[in-house]
Amino acid sequence: MRVMVVGGGAREHTLVWKLSCSKRVKELYVAPGNAGTAQIAVNLDISPTNLDALTRAVKDNKIDLVMVGPEAPLAAGIVNKFQSLGIPAFGPTREAVLIESSKVFAKRLMHKYGIPCAKDAVFTSFKEAEAYVKKQPIPVVIKADGLAAGKGAIVAQSMDEALKALSDIMEKRVFGDAGNQVLVEECLVGRETSLLAFTDGVTVVPLVTARDYKRAYDYDKGQNTGGMGCYSPSMFLDKESSSKAIKTIVEPVVKAMAQEGKPYKGVLYAGLMLTTEGPKVLEFNARFGDPETQVQLPLLKTDLVDIMMAVSDGNLAKTKVEWNNGACVGVVMASGGYPGSYKQGFPITGLDNTDSDILVFHAGTKSNGEKVYTAGGRVLTVVARGRTVVEARGRVYLNLPRISFENCHYRKDIAAEEG
Ligand code: AMP
Ligand code: GLY
Repeated sequence: MRVMVVGGGAREHTLVWKLSCSKRVKELYVAPGNAGTAQIAVNLDISPTNLDALTRAVKDNKIDLVMVGPEAPLAAGIVNKFQSLGIPAFGPTREAVLIESSKVFAKRLMHKYGIPCAKDAVFTSFKEAEAYVKKQPIPVVIKADGLAAGKGAIVAQSMDEALKALSDIMEKRVFGDAGNQVLVEECLVGRETSLLAFTDGVTVVPLVTARDYKRAYDYDKGQNTGGMGCYSPSMFLDKESSSKAIKTIVEPVVKAMAQEGKPYKGVLYAGLMLTTEGPKVLEFNARFGDPETQVQLPLLKTDLVDIMMAVSDGNLAKTKVEWNNGACVGVVMASGGYPGSYKQGFPITGLDNTDSDILVFHAGTKSNGEKVYTAGGRVLTVVARGRTVVEARGRVYLNLPRISFENCHYRKDIAAEEG
């Protein structure tokens, strides 16, 4: 098969790497990819949201199957477009991706179908929202309805912060139209975890569990980021809590989407809070996680193409999805300053100095044919496998200092709670 991956981060490098291991894959393309994907696939210089250029590339390169990484092309309708051309594309349609692209849609669906989540109120008027927020206990959560690159949710620790967030979103419109509607939510308390599952619209098959670290610095200090590290399997989501969340959240949501005439196919990512009343939903993502993918896919035994085809054809019930018993720990190497402003263009050294079993997935990297340079905030995810999380953690931290670039920053405490 000729397969194309859409996206250019470490998640997409991992997807390309996993697909390159498939016996069914003959040619691999990625749009736009990075210096890492260029070593195992053909990079196409196309933006993930340029659907016309992607369509031309799919036709020109006779692509048989498409894997979509990020949410923006999904929300723009990439799956609808390729389906209309008869090309299977892994991911939900524009209608089904509303579960991520509209938080208000997701909350209304959950309330209608009795899926556990935070209590909330929705506003389109700043004045009304402000009056309501003033009566809420602190902390309170303010969320822009639409996609805001992961920055649209503010857990306000003071009334001033809550009112500022509201004004930023609704009056200053810092997230543009994503702020047309605002959700004000009760703040849930508990341990945060994510749960991902493959679904063909009917059958739900969970992925191996993973725990990611969103804050920039050790011991969860600093700003929220796209994710600074991850390990799998998670010690906090045991078999019992995981099956409970599948039964009370993921399966009912998939059923609800079908009943609403928006059947959901692909990977469903549920961000959960494990509260004393059981798991409750914080958000849904309509895609694989980043950096979750970097630690989950190395543990996947089943051919990813078989899963993609089963999801597309509605045959997931007949497909055995198997995982290795071991563990993976992944640490993100970021540019100094990330998630704020940072410099890029620094040469990266030591990429060939790691032990042979270490996986180095590129994110913001560029190559001039000779050297690899930094070209983004998150630069690499370095992943080690092991029989246990402790063993994998030891291996990854042994290898990380061998790779370097100016102002490089990474967390030293990824998976430390298991050590
Ligand atoms: P979201 O984009 O909705 O996932 O929110 C981003 C982050 O904000 C989550 O990962 C949580 O850490 C936090 N968060 C969102 N909603 C709530 C809530 N209702 N209660 C507590 N924390 C929340
Ligand atoms: N790791 C968080 C995300 O992929 O949204």
